[in-house]
Amino acid sequence: MKTFLKWTAGIVLVLAVAGFLSFLYFIPPFLTAAPETFSGPMMTAPPGLSGIADPAERAIADRGRYIVMRNGCIGCHATNGSQGPDLTKYLAGGGLKFQTPKGTFVSRNLTPDNDTGLAKRTDDELKRVLRSGVFPDGHVVPYTVMPWADLSNWTEEDRHAVVVYLRHLPAVRHQIPDPDATPSITRPGAVEQAYGGKDYGVAPAVPVE
Ligand code: HEC
Repeated sequence: MKTFLKWTAGIVLVLAVAGFLSFLYFIPPFLTAAPETFSGPMMTAPPGLSGIADPAERAIADRGRYIVMRNGCIGCHATNGSQGPDLTKYLAGGGLKFQTPKGTFVSRNLTPDNDTGLAKRTDDELKRVLRSGVFPDGHVVPYTVMPWADLSNWTEEDRHAVVVYLRHLPAVRHQIPDPDATPSITRPGAVEQAYGGKDYGVAPAVPVE
């Protein structure tokens, strides 16, 4: 009897293992495409930085490039083409429009184009948007639109690297409609301070006697 049980258990075990192996063999592959197939176009889209002569500047821009690629900036700041995002117009904006109770916002052109891009913004102005969502005209972009709340814990070096990188993108002329939002901030520096920035703006208020 014991031998019979042993044999039965053995056969059941062998069948179970064989069944499991054939299950693994016959199920359709979940994913046959290499991950690079999906991420490839996005990975190669960011323009190279080999044109930057100064190696120190190139290293900083390269760090900025990495941060930008890893933080999904292209997801919003892309430019739409007929077949989805037009990756030749990398970060030239306009791809998404957000209608919110606080106003209507279109993703902006982050390339250094003179008239339609960031050429006229100072480094500090750009860092302020990344730190606290405050624009030079005093409007604040909701963090659900431009996710600055996720970015405000970057180090200053990271913010600087991103700005340096954006300055080295090929300029793309692409006009973006201005946001339709009411300016609400009169002391951008004060808001920035709350997010770890320095208030360079206005002298401290003096209590009234
Ligand atoms: C969910 C969408 C979204 C993502 C993701 C996003 N942005 Fe934005 N961004 C916007 C929108 C929309 C605006 C325009 C806001 C406005 O006009 O008030 C904007 C504005 C900006 C500006 C200000 C441009 C100017 O004209 O002064 C900068 C700089 C910027 N984004 C950089 C970035 C960077 C860098 C990343 C990635 C770390 C990023 N954004 C990710 C939506 C996004």
